[in-house]
Amino acid sequence: MTIRTVHHVTELQAELAEWRARRESIALVPTMGNLHAGHLSLVQRAHQLGECVVVSVFVNPLQFGPGEDFERYPRTLEADAALLRQAGAHVLFAPAVADMYPGGYPPLTTVRVGGSLTDILDGHFRPGHFDGVATVVNILFNLVRPDVAVFGEKDWQQLQVIRRMVADLGMAVRVVGVPTARDADGLALSSRNQYLGAAERALAPRLYAALQAVAAGIEAGRRDFEVLCLEQKRALEAEGFRPQYLEVRSQDLSPARAEATAFVALVAAYLGGTRLIDNLSLRLVS
Ligand code: PAF
Repeated sequence: MTIRTVHHVTELQAELAEWRARRESIALVPTMGNLHAGHLSLVQRAHQLGECVVVSVFVNPLQFGPGEDFERYPRTLEADAALLRQAGAHVLFAPAVADMYPGGYPPLTTVRVGGSLTDILDGHFRPGHFDGVATVVNILFNLVRPDVAVFGEKDWQQLQVIRRMVADLGMAVRVVGVPTARDADGLALSSRNQYLGAAERALAPRLYAALQAVAAGIEAGRRDFEVLCLEQKRALEAEGFRPQYLEVRSQDLSPARAEATAFVALVAAYLGGTRLIDNLSLRLVS
């Protein structure tokens, strides 16, 4: 079966009506395009979860702050379509801003998940970012009405924000997270990695190594989370990173408790002009 590329909501809905008429379930993979192996692992998971795999490609202006990389974010729709064809996706939805925000841009109505999830970590350094994400994902859910939606764990905080939005608003969609795909040297795959120069790219896996060092400390019994993270932040700084945060939290992003058995370590750091994020979740076995 060949992939159907649709740009407008009416085409999308006509296409999905055929799947629904056959009582086939719909799995949605929301993306901003410039697809890599990490995205393809989401598509692969979507195939296991639904009969019709819909991939959206939309660089959402609402989730970019002033001075961020909205303008230069790589847009590679033809290459994306070719990869999705090979991956067996059924529908590629590639709308324009006017299709996603039919009432006009910026929209008057937005979705805000509470500050205990959205004012911390990335939300602290990118004010309004998660409002933009929650709003566009809500719109995608309304347009596609998927049975299941698949997101990467690479954006751990985003995944928690979306899960909470779905729970709080009683949305009838199952949210599934997929582990982060990494290059052989540990660097998490990201469309933004291509902004890195050769020397920066060689250094970039140190970010994951810092998370691994934090995880090793916890596994060895350390519970002085702040000191543990500060040590690794300092090490990153000494190597040329400009870390914004490196924190240990509970997996739902509430403060980490010493007696807990599941944690996530999260980091964001600039390397030159490129902002990288990563995280590592761990569950202690007794
Ligand atoms: O993770 C992303 O690529 C984006 O934040 C998403 C979920 C597609 C919303 O624009």
